[in-house]
Amino acid sequence: MSSTGQPFHQALAAKIFHGVNLVSLLLMMTSGLQIYNANPVFGGREGLPIPGLFVLGGWLAGGRHWHFAAMWFFALNLLGYGVYILVTRRWRHRFFTGKDIKALQSSKNNKRRSYAWHRIVYTAIIPFLLLAILSGLGMYKPAQFPWIVEMFGDWQALRIVHFATVPIVLIFATLHSLLGLKVGGDRLINSMFQWR
Ligand code: HEM
Repeated sequence: MSSTGQPFHQALAAKIFHGVNLVSLLLMMTSGLQIYNANPVFGGREGLPIPGLFVLGGWLAGGRHWHFAAMWFFALNLLGYGVYILVTRRWRHRFFTGKDIKALQSSKNNKRRSYAWHRIVYTAIIPFLLLAILSGLGMYKPAQFPWIVEMFGDWQALRIVHFATVPIVLIFATLHSLLGLKVGGDRLINSMFQWR
């Protein structure tokens, strides 16, 4: 049950966007780390490699194939989600607002405060996901989009920013799951994964 006593219910479209996002992010991170292993961002060939358990693709070309295939699912899914929340006008109540800030400043209700954090966290990840696409696009097509590389300063800075999306997504996933559990327990989590 939600705090208003209603059972948790998620729109089918929201569940699909969420599921595709989860799977494609996993593929983006693991294949990206495979690419990283060919020439680590920090320390070059002498740098610390990521253990085989966390990488996908087997070698550089395999990692790139996965990365560039999954990127379409990831980016188009995010675009689809953006259109969906605009068309259904969900954007008006889906993301954090001044009410959440107020709740954090003055509410004595712990659950309401956790809910505010939950909304802040899942709203804040969106610009980082867009940053992953922007910096990835700069690395993918530097000749077509030289301004993206220039925007970040140089190639190494662009690589660092792109790589940083991995720890950011991991921190987000941890906080998002913990806050989801705190706010709505197993029922909220299950409501996002039940296909009915
Ligand atoms: C959240 C999503 C993403 C994550 C976590 C991610 C992660 C990574 C990581 C860790 C690397 C290795 C960095 C390096 O060693 O320089 C990488 C490389 C790369 N990524 Fe991503 N990435 C994401 C999304 C994207 C997107 C959307 C694109 C394209 C638009 C993209 C294009 C690239 C390119 C072109 C490379 C370098 C490939 C190469 O040098 O052969 N990435 N990514």
